[in-house]
Amino acid sequence: MKKLVPSLIVPCFLVFGLALAAQSSHPPYVKMSDHDPDGIGVSYLGREIAQVMGHEAADWLDRPEREAEEAPSMLVKSLKLQPGMTVADIGAGSGYLSFMMAKYVGSNGKVYAEDIQPEMLDIVKQKAKEAGVKTVIPWLGTTIDPKLPAKSVDLMIMVDVYHEFDKPYEMISNMVPALKKGGRLVFVEYRKEDPSVPIKEVHKMSVAQVRKEMAIFPLDYRETSEVLPRQHIIVFVRR
Ligand SMILES: C[S@@+](CC[C@H](N)C(=O)[O-])C[C@H]1O[C@@H](n2cnc3c(N)ncnc32)[C@H](O)[C@@H]1O
Repeated sequence: MKKLVPSLIVPCFLVFGLALAAQSSHPPYVKMSDHDPDGIGVSYLGREIAQVMGHEAADWLDRPEREAEEAPSMLVKSLKLQPGMTVADIGAGSGYLSFMMAKYVGSNGKVYAEDIQPEMLDIVKQKAKEAGVKTVIPWLGTTIDPKLPAKSVDLMIMVDVYHEFDKPYEMISNMVPALKKGGRLVFVEYRKEDPSVPIKEVHKMSVAQVRKEMAIFPLDYRETSEVLPRQHIIVFVRR
């Protein structure tokens, strides 16, 4: 009898442990032995995660030729933002797009300029001070959670950001609850399908890959717009 007890207990714990693991499971992060020098050596659902663009390169985000190259004005116009809306610019960097979007949501709206690098947010703060803008809110998040209030956001946008999330599953899991029901989640990603787009490979994404990665979340795919010269605009809606 003495011998029977541990032999029963151990398998029971094993089954219980496996059941728990299955409950919290998500697509695995797989370490790569051979990888792109611009990636972090981890693949997720078949694509390598890119390195984060450091704040030292913030000037590149504000480069004067960006309008001619990427048409960000057209991007912001296409979002059909309305006065009073709450927008979250996830991975806002220097706030280049946050300030553009703030003009559309007006004095009754707001734009969270969210990022994980405090140095980027210092640039946002400085720009807001100089321009006297109070509706752009610098917002520090973590690599797994933007820490935004629940059901508070009408539109969340990531411009050239999602492919840098080192924990994309955790990050999206914590972003979706901050969206209002029917709120939009927008990806702006350089076209992986187009080899002529002059951006490092791990910083590009295909529409199929984004859709594959979002299929496990309570989101409905809405549309992809190809009005921009280099980037997809891929839109999902929170169920
Ligand atoms: C290439 S920059 C793009 C900045 C801005 N969206 C733009 O287009 O001007 C990518 C930004 O994403 C941020 N980032 C990377 N991982 C992040 C995460 N998990 N949460 C929030 N921001 C993140 C980086 O710190 C960086 O500022």
